[in-house]
Amino acid sequence: MPDQPAKTTSASERDWWKNAVIYQIYPRSFQDSNGDGVGDLNGITQRLDYLQELGVDAIWMTPIYPSPQADFGYDVADYEAIDPHYGTMADFDRLVAEAAKRHIRVIMDMVMNHSSDEHKWFVESRSSRTNPYRDWYVWRDGNGETATDKGEPPNNWQSEFGHSAWEWDEKTRQYYYHKFYVKQPDLNWNNPKVHAAFKDIIDFWLKRGVGGFRFDAITTLFEDPSFADETAILGKDGRPRINAFGDPALDGLKTEFLPGVHAVMEEMRASADAFSSDKFPGTRVLIGETYLPDVAALAREYGTLDKPEFHLPMDTQVGFVNKPDVATFRAKLEDAEERLGGNIPLLVFDNHDNPRLDARYGDGVHDTDIQRVISAILFASRGASLFYYGDEIGMKTTPPTRVEDVRDPVGRVGWPKEKGRDGERTPMQWDATANAGFAKAGVVPWLPVPPSYTSINVQAEKADPNSLLAWYQSLIRLKKTNPAIGEGGYTMLDVDNASVLSWMCQAPGVLAVVVSVNFTAEPQTVSLSLPGSGRKVRTLLKTPGAPEPVSLGKIQLGAYGVYIGEIQP
Ligand code: GLC
Repeated sequence: MPDQPAKTTSASERDWWKNAVIYQIYPRSFQDSNGDGVGDLNGITQRLDYLQELGVDAIWMTPIYPSPQADFGYDVADYEAIDPHYGTMADFDRLVAEAAKRHIRVIMDMVMNHSSDEHKWFVESRSSRTNPYRDWYVWRDGNGETATDKGEPPNNWQSEFGHSAWEWDEKTRQYYYHKFYVKQPDLNWNNPKVHAAFKDIIDFWLKRGVGGFRFDAITTLFEDPSFADETAILGKDGRPRINAFGDPALDGLKTEFLPGVHAVMEEMRASADAFSSDKFPGTRVLIGETYLPDVAALAREYGTLDKPEFHLPMDTQVGFVNKPDVATFRAKLEDAEERLGGNIPLLVFDNHDNPRLDARYGDGVHDTDIQRVISAILFASRGASLFYYGDEIGMKTTPPTRVEDVRDPVGRVGWPKEKGRDGERTPMQWDATANAGFAKAGVVPWLPVPPSYTSINVQAEKADPNSLLAWYQSLIRLKKTNPAIGEGGYTMLDVDNASVLSWMCQAPGVLAVVVSVNFTAEPQTVSLSLPGSGRKVRTLLKTPGAPEPVSLGKIQLGAYGVYIGEIQP
């Protein structure tokens, strides 16, 4: 029987996503419960108490659908089932129910740009040129003498995983397009049947009680209908720049950021908004994997009031600055506040596709302190925050050292220049026992546990009130309980300071909060001059070491110190 429309949706259920703390889980690497060396759904369920204690509102899991695992789940062979590596549909339902008991929502990864070549749609599609599924994918003739000659690929487009994005199919004598791996053929979004299929898939998961979706690779859904070559990017010497795969770097403008995606997201949003259920009340949030050239493009991903698209397209502008540069952070945070049309930003600094924070922001000496600085920006600012499993304990990027150990196809194709993404996908470090508590002793985990697990692990950090884990927990609590931080707007302060980033968060009816973060290894003192008389501050959270400030006029910060205080009336 279809669900009846929900009678009431409380404001907190409706608005939960607006200051949500979202935790990204890479299921293979989180917790193995059955001794096969691969993490699974029951493992995640076992760890829900930890996530509740940490204070997260939602978990986003990278894909758990049946898959040949050529791209570890991003090659989906069936969108409405669970891969046996991860468990069963009953395990999934139990995870959703157990998470709900702890006020945690489960967000699914929705991979619409491509399926696996082993998906029944593609198996049909490649079976003959007249198959009804032929037009579900992107097929083109080669550039040969005749239409059925292999010749050269249709154009110079390249795969994100290296080399030509076109694969010759001998049986039907055409090329198929794959923006990603060869086993990930692109779906044809000009075909209305593809739209309908994904609306059904979204509905399928909504009925199982998911809290929303993260739309994978959404900027590459469409290709330019001209199918013309992309332009090579020239280096300083006037010759094409060569990328890590040894191919000429292309501008990507015929295969990315095409505008058709807006209409698709309007449709998906309308489907998600139309769904209502007494059993699973509240907003289903649509999150976008939106690496975009600038903030104007990001602003468009929200759609309009009449035709909304994403609730939370990821703001990769702030999080992927990739250097501890105060002026750039200040400018990007101002953009998020002022140039997103009043929409809610989703800050994110880390994920399964990029080296972890230590490799992008650390200096090898103060990495933990730098991570406190980064996490203060992530949580002590308006909007929603997304972080990656293991960031809260300071897990380090640990890439493979030998090509024969590489699991990620990106690393296998790109070795040695491009080592792939295994380094940021290693097993979660729970404790100092063998296999770091990720899997039972004696089991061989699918990726090796980094040696750092003996000191960097949840158990050790739980026992230490000054640990990074304790810091994350305090920041998250602050975000969830202090309306100035969680819901208020922010204004940059002391804007010429090149060493310390300071801002003020304000919401109606509550005391304003100031945040200062020192991006240098030297102690700093800041003087925050604000109009009015409220210059005394009360500390909400600070890194140890620096003295308690009495006024806004003199806030002392240790190396990479953070200060968060409430301005007193
Ligand atoms: C996204 C995913 C990445 C995957 C790719 C292809 O960028 O985050 O892991 O390889 O899409 O699906």
